[in-house]
Amino acid sequence: MNRDKKLVVAMVGLPAMGKSTVALKLKENLDKEDVRVAVFNNGDVRRRMLPGNTAHAGFYNPENAETASLREHIAATNMAEARAFLSAGGQIAILDATNVSPKRRETIRATFPDMPILFIECRNDDPALLDFSIDRKIRGQEFAHLPEAEAKKSFRERIGYYRHILRSLTPEDGNGVILDSLNNRILVERADSLLPYYARIRDLLVSDWIKNLFLARHGQSEDNLAGRIGGDTDLTATGRSQAWALSRHFIGTPIPYVFTSTRRRTQEMAEPLVTARQYCSVFAFTEFDEIDAGQCEGMTPAEIKQTRPEVYAARSLDKYRYTYPGGESYAMLAERVERGLKKAFFLSGNAENILIVGHQAVNRVILSHFLFRRAEDVPYIYIPQDRYFHIVSTHTKKLFELKKF
Ligand code: F6P
Repeated sequence: MNRDKKLVVAMVGLPAMGKSTVALKLKENLDKEDVRVAVFNNGDVRRRMLPGNTAHAGFYNPENAETASLREHIAATNMAEARAFLSAGGQIAILDATNVSPKRRETIRATFPDMPILFIECRNDDPALLDFSIDRKIRGQEFAHLPEAEAKKSFRERIGYYRHILRSLTPEDGNGVILDSLNNRILVERADSLLPYYARIRDLLVSDWIKNLFLARHGQSEDNLAGRIGGDTDLTATGRSQAWALSRHFIGTPIPYVFTSTRRRTQEMAEPLVTARQYCSVFAFTEFDEIDAGQCEGMTPAEIKQTRPEVYAARSLDKYRYTYPGGESYAMLAERVERGLKKAFFLSGNAENILIVGHQAVNRVILSHFLFRRAEDVPYIYIPQDRYFHIVSTHTKKLFELKKF
């Protein structure tokens, strides 16, 4: 490898678009390949230089000449540190900042006239996801002094200021990639393929980055005990002891993000594990709710066979594509579960470990995202209630293991 090759990567995008996650993903992976990479985050410099409160939205108002020049100074300091790193043998400096205005990008080019620059713009237009991202952001130290509603408002205002000056990358910016950071998909690619490190970076941008996903199903619920499908019942005593066993099993394992459905049984399953730890954000997604059995919700399979024989027969013929009257098919479920997964991975960013507590059909679909299964076999994947799947999926490692808890 030619160690003299240098590259400046400059992130571009509004706050909460996943820029830092992408920057860290690049760093962690390139580190493993012995490339000397460092991330230079404007926010870190700001907090270091101005230890007072700079979380309030007014600080980001472009009309405020005083704070605007302070922010330029912060950006310049960050770039100077990146230059120093590259001069001292560093190979890739990642500028992790919004860099949304053409003027700022011009400054970056002027600061590194002798080096190739790759701009990576992160975008995602999912409004619900933005809400969750803001939720996550305001849990940070910076917003600790504000009541939740005020912190949210302030962060939204900050985004508004940036949106005002945001200009997407254009050919004039030079080498650039526009990335849908929710779906790891390159939307626009204008990069010279001979750019140093580009082949590796491109591959990383579009790869999954799931370090450790623990996928559990809720324990036994009242409806499970009665053999009824769907519903929203609580866990039984057996189910609760399964929840405690899950929590005990992971004692000592940091799990900063837990995702459940909006159903009581998944939340009760996660509860002992969540309450046992100080740092754990829990998100309940409707996308992870169990398959909607429509008119058959609350029935047992025997009742369906007896009272709705046409439903029973048709579902047995093509369980993946069959849509319950007034409900869903596995194919429909797969679409929303996929959305939920993308959201969960986006929100958990670089987390080492995450847990999803789902349902039988939901977990089948999640597993089929990682494992090849023919569509017709997906609705029959075995999903026990006293075991979990440990899944790793990065561009260099795939692991899949069913473990007891
Ligand atoms: O029986 C438990 C359950 O989670 C039901 O709520 C759901 O309808 C069913 O499993 C999904 O499994 P299948 O598609 O095999 O009926």
